[in-house]
Amino acid sequence: MLFKNARIENSAASSDIRVTDGVFTEIKSQIEPLQSEETLDLNGNLVLPPFIESHVHLDACLTAGDPVWNMSGTLFEGIECWSKRKDKLDEQDIRERVNRCVRMYAQNGVQYIRTHVDVTDPELTALRALVALREELKDIAEIQIVAFPQEGILSYPNGKQLMRDAVALGADCVGAIPHFEFTREYSVESLNFALQLAAENDRLVDVHCDEIDDEASRGLETVAARALELGLFDKVTASHTTAMHSYNNAYVVRLMRLLKMSRINFVANPLVNTHLQGRMDSYPKRRGVTRVKELLEEGINVSFGHDDICDPWYPMGYGSLRDVVFLGLHVCQMMGYEEIMNSYRLITDNAAKTLHITGRYGIKPGNPANFIVMDAENWYDALNRSAAVLKSVRNGKTIAEASPARGRVLL
Ligand code: FE2
Repeated sequence: MLFKNARIENSAASSDIRVTDGVFTEIKSQIEPLQSEETLDLNGNLVLPPFIESHVHLDACLTAGDPVWNMSGTLFEGIECWSKRKDKLDEQDIRERVNRCVRMYAQNGVQYIRTHVDVTDPELTALRALVALREELKDIAEIQIVAFPQEGILSYPNGKQLMRDAVALGADCVGAIPHFEFTREYSVESLNFALQLAAENDRLVDVHCDEIDDEASRGLETVAARALELGLFDKVTASHTTAMHSYNNAYVVRLMRLLKMSRINFVANPLVNTHLQGRMDSYPKRRGVTRVKELLEEGINVSFGHDDICDPWYPMGYGSLRDVVFLGLHVCQMMGYEEIMNSYRLITDNAAKTLHITGRYGIKPGNPANFIVMDAENWYDALNRSAAVLKSVRNGKTIAEASPARGRVLL
């Protein structure tokens, strides 16, 4: 199949893309169609690699208000609400919600999803369901599963064994939550345990790290040190790191050296952390998003995630990573022209590094023919006008499409 007139990744000129048996085979300015080859004109619209959700909690998605709403808007009340909802979790409930949510993502051009799944559950109900769904939904999205100990590894009964079991059942990544452990000692031990478990089982790591406004929360340095010492490097990701927003600058300068040596990835979740953080402040209220701009300037990889879709921690969301980038650029003060134009990388190439899939991701010959077409000339335009994802193509097949909204002023 031949796709004509694609404006790939903000390029001023358009290109043609040939896809054969679900793989990109040729990309250049003009390709003549073969006899009887199907051809589709993309009309100079923006073509990007599919969006990547590098941080979400699919097991909790679409449960906001069930059985209670989070009234304080804090992370900790969210965890309380969730522990009430967990009693009602069963496989059917998870299947129904995850199927709906992954399709919402598909409509927004997302084809890769890293989901954290709560494993502080003696039955591992959600984890087992997500392992099955990862296979069943693979034609819509590639799902990576993080064994996420929502209520702690050392601070939850049998927490270490549940993590080992989750890995044995097929979790792709090992998680941790150092800021929620009972003590600082537990926090350090939980990280030592998690990274060791990943190293022994050849898994990736993604830690909910210092998601708190406590400037003394120092899980990040332990994550980075263990990533370096165990040789895990960019297999390791630190998510949230909102305490870094509140660290003193002298400490950040010291820390930055270790972060660069460790080569770990970061995921910031601007929608959710501007909502959850700063809740103990009066005024001024901290934004609570990690130092994205400064990390990027140091050459450290950062991607953006949605984190929550209508759940106890965030009452909104429909799978649009465009909204995440739009808010994130404001909050992180990254509104220079080049920063805006290149910000799609926060949910494409940078996220591919986080998910460790760079070898088979992107619009180039030899890769799976996965891409999206947006109703815009370039990303600046797409972001500003909240342009529709006209088409999402996966392995050469269209899996979602939309018609452009067109309005007119009558006076
Ligand atoms: Fe999260």
